[in-house]
Amino acid sequence: MFWLFSYAAVADNSTGRQAIASAHPLATEAGMAIFAEGGNAFDAAVAVSAVLAVVEPYSSGFGGGGFWLLHQAKNSQDVMIDGREIAPQAMNADSFLDKNGNVMDHLSVDGALAAAIPGEAAALAHIATKYGRLPLSTSLAPAIAIARTGFLVDSIYRRLAKFRLKELQASENATKIFLRAGDVPLEGALLPQPELAQTLERLALEGAKGFYQGETAKRLVQAVRAAGGRWTLADLQNYQVKERKPVRGSFQGYEVVSAPPPSSGGIALISMLNMLEEKNWRAYKGAEQKHLVVEVMRRAYRDRAEYLGDPDFVDVPQERLLQQRYAAQLADSISMQQATPSTALVNVLPLSESDHTSHFSLLDENGNYVAATMSINYPFGSGFVATGTGILLNDEMDDFSAKPGVGNVYGLVGAQANAIAPGKRPLSSMSPTFVRSEDQLLVLGTPGGSRIISMVLLGILDFTQHGDVQSLVSAPRFHHQYLPDEIQFEPETFSRIEQARLLDLGHSLRPLEDSYGNMQAVYWDKKKNKVTAASDPRGLGRAVVR
Ligand code: DON
Repeated sequence: MFWLFSYAAVADNSTGRQAIASAHPLATEAGMAIFAEGGNAFDAAVAVSAVLAVVEPYSSGFGGGGFWLLHQAKNSQDVMIDGREIAPQAMNADSFLDKNGNVMDHLSVDGALAAAIPGEAAALAHIATKYGRLPLSTSLAPAIAIARTGFLVDSIYRRLAKFRLKELQASENATKIFLRAGDVPLEGALLPQPELAQTLERLALEGAKGFYQGETAKRLVQAVRAAGGRWTLADLQNYQVKERKPVRGSFQGYEVVSAPPPSSGGIALISMLNMLEEKNWRAYKGAEQKHLVVEVMRRAYRDRAEYLGDPDFVDVPQERLLQQRYAAQLADSISMQQATPSTALVNVLPLSESDHTSHFSLLDENGNYVAATMSINYPFGSGFVATGTGILLNDEMDDFSAKPGVGNVYGLVGAQANAIAPGKRPLSSMSPTFVRSEDQLLVLGTPGGSRIISMVLLGILDFTQHGDVQSLVSAPRFHHQYLPDEIQFEPETFSRIEQARLLDLGHSLRPLEDSYGNMQAVYWDKKKNKVTAASDPRGLGRAVVR
């Protein structure tokens, strides 16, 4: 019946179309099914998030958290639902240091101590109740059904389970659920998660209380403590979702709306776009243009390391960082003849952040839209599953800076602003983003740890050049994060001539063996009332427009 809505008689904010791009076909299908049941973009967002949590256990889940950037058509409001994890009360700045003050880094990555208090269940309950049209139980139903009957193991699952095999083997529950005969399951193996289905049923029936209190909470705390973690029932009971005002910027006539702190993404992204505008990046081509983009990445990631953290705990100089005037100052030190060594930029107290995660972008027929990035951090999070819950816990504690001067699993550095404190949210790079003008809308985002922000930047730059979602999710990627002082890049990103030129300019090049990221984007050309969606060819996701 959807042709009934086509082109002509659509009001300004109604698309007449529904579109979802997500990292897994089952999640996209679930969102579409919720649309068919009368759900809006926010109901679909709950369904897609919940299914991703079940079918991409290595990426996101109810043992983790995320950011959901929502746009409500009826009042033209944007809001970010912050369901980021928080540090348990018993954790502090020294929690991952040995008695000589050295970082015991695996403790923030593997096992129960690495897990922060999860936010995803609270966030989904909040979105369903405040923004959805359907009951939470309806939107969770697809996820519960798939948890009960199982999903089929694919090549990404196998690659990441192999990567985290030792840690999964270390948890009896994880071994039972995610491995077969103690090893990586074969492609096509069926993977049911009956205990997770029961946990989700309690959430569906009782709302957030059904997760943060009662049976689920009791089991989570018991299991975490028995494994050396420090959660308490109060930590769970006191978990609060936050509604935050997104950060805004402009770039070449577009308004850019993105994730505010405790994400570093929006601020870094807008700061980079501001610097590029300042330097008139379109005037450059080839290696020169890439050099310029790298130099703006270097500067924005440096600021990220120094200034950004949980805004409920530290004063983030947000306004200043977003100002065009400030970007002009930063950009002033960029030379087009030479790379700036990162060490030549004002020194930061080195600290940390992180790689797996999931993203989806979606749009409903009334012009509501959502960009959401969810994570349990490293592939399969901490590898620890709490007995009797089916919940695989995050290792988001590693996104804090364990100690000034020491990078985390992704080599990101940070400062005091992102030190561990009880109840604090670790700094994130997750950057769900809207880019829009009077007659265009782009909804995008991706997983990828510290590289998320540079990927979203490159996605936007590609969009302003080609205006095409398939092109922007596919475009070759490169990344610079201040420290280490090197350009990381996908195979085929730079021609030989470009590589030679970048070396000549003084850059260090680190070619990566594999591609990275899994970008999901939806585009609405309002003039033509045409909606398109694309899922990153690097992943196995699916984009549907109907
Ligand atoms: O919040 C963050 O920035 C990280 N925990 C995200 C990790 C991630 O994207 C892993 N994905 N591949």
